[in-house]
Amino acid sequence: MLWFWLLPAVAGAPVNPPADSRAGDVTAGAAGRAGPGLGRQLDHGQVASITVFQDGRGLPAGQGTVQQGLLVYRQHCMACHGEHGRDGLNDQLAGGQRYGQRTIGSYWPYAPTLFDYIRRAMPYQNAGLLSDADTYAVVAYLLFLNGLWSEQDVLDAAALTKIVMPNRKNFTSEYELP
Ligand code: HEC
Repeated sequence: MLWFWLLPAVAGAPVNPPADSRAGDVTAGAAGRAGPGLGRQLDHGQVASITVFQDGRGLPAGQGTVQQGLLVYRQHCMACHGEHGRDGLNDQLAGGQRYGQRTIGSYWPYAPTLFDYIRRAMPYQNAGLLSDADTYAVVAYLLFLNGLWSEQDVLDAAALTKIVMPNRKNFTSEYELP
């Protein structure tokens, strides 16, 4: 699922769907044709400006702490992902090492792309809501829940790039980064 977000940008493939595809219809309402009128198409520049690569390129300025992230999480994430990232209605985000489930700590191969995914796609019903600082904070909190970040430390672009995720060795890269 993560690679759905990254591959088109990484491979330099066209990001806009072909005019005759179903996805292209989402803006039809705005253009005056029949359609639901939901969403808007992004051009290459807009997509590139929010893309964070696995090596940390594209990470914005800003920082956040675990304590700040806890507040963001309670307000925007906990209803779906549960207290401490467990036992929620949707994907479990922590605790996988212990129970052998797929979570951030047991599955996710790179920390910077966690930032990318959350900033783009969460909260699920209101994606794009979080500021860069709030995203750093909630990423710090989620890494903390997974035993990958300490409660005292401030997370920023440099720190996030240095984190080696436990499952990284089980992923291979089949393409060269541009
Ligand atoms: C309305 C419910 C809802 C809210 C609120 C929500 N999420 Fe999610 N989250 C989901 C769903 C559903 C998925 C699975 C999406 C998919 O597979 O395409 C998901 C997936 C994720 C994943 C990927 C998990 C994985 O490894 O597969 C992360 C990380 C995540 N959410 C973080 C967050 C954060 C951080 C917030 C708060 C800022 C948040 N979510 C708020 C519903 C929600």
